Amino acid sequence: MSATIIDGFAVAASVRSRVASAVANLKAAGTQPCLAVVLVGDDPASVSYVAGKEKALAEVGMADRSYRLPVTASEKELLDLIAALNADASVHGILVQLPLPRHIDEARVILAIDPSKDVDGFHPISVGNLVIDRPGFLPCTPHGVLVLLREAGIATNGAHAVIVGRSNIVGKPLALLLARKDCNATVTICHTGTRDLASITRQADILIAAVGKPRVITADMIKPGAAVIDVGVNRVEDSTAKKGFRLVGDVDFVPACEVASYITPVPRGVGPMTIAMLMHNTLLASERAAEAR
Ligand code: GUN
Repeated sequence: MSATIIDGFAVAASVRSRVASAVANLKAAGTQPCLAVVLVGDDPASVSYVAGKEKALAEVGMADRSYRLPVTASEKELLDLIAALNADASVHGILVQLPLPRHIDEARVILAIDPSKDVDGFHPISVGNLVIDRPGFLPCTPHGVLVLLREAGIATNGAHAVIVGRSNIVGKPLALLLARKDCNATVTICHTGTRDLASITRQADILIAAVGKPRVITADMIKPGAAVIDVGVNRVEDSTAKKGFRLVGDVDFVPACEVASYITPVPRGVGPMTIAMLMHNTLLASERAAEAR
């Protein structure tokens, strides 16, 4: 058997194209959607993610307000910038790229963002809305995973979804989304404390790898015919690559293809969906702001 490879790049392009048409309508009605992207320091992976976000903003016709703070910037400088962006009616969404330098308290920074501009869905108000099924901003990567499953025609109703990883950004919110009535999956969350991980992952109809370690999900951990979603983006050294590294997922891709029914590649799987759903959230924030005027 060889798995069907889910083309996240193509699905993301169709989401961006839908967002672009809505942006054109909003602009015609007098609102220019705008996202402020804040990057502190110059971590190479973060620089690359932010560049991807800025490219997508241009493509969908949104204004891009970029802020680059040096790695030495104080927490107060960042909080002051967020306060100014909260007060600026021409800014509809605020994204602070994570991780932040260690001397800055990430939780305090997230808490400072106006929940109506929280397009990452990381603010406790957004998280709370997700938990109790109220409308709000869904976090981009988990939402992107749901869209990929839907577009690939993978049924979640009654399925056993096993998520490996319990991060605030992916594992926890994705578990909540998949357990909602509209997905109706039975969800298991595995983590570093899980005993006999493979015996649990082998029960998954839908296996989601969100560990952040290269190729730790091996083919023997996958039930034959399962759908495998790889959220990991790991840089591994590769002297033959132009940049000296290449990107691999959390799943050992080639052998996994022989066992799974569906699988997402890395790159061009979940990654582009994160950015596409960020465009979707920024559109929502802009539409809500336009309605409130
Ligand atoms: N770092 C890794 N993923 C994300 C994300 O989705 N949003 C932000 N702001 N930072 C990240």
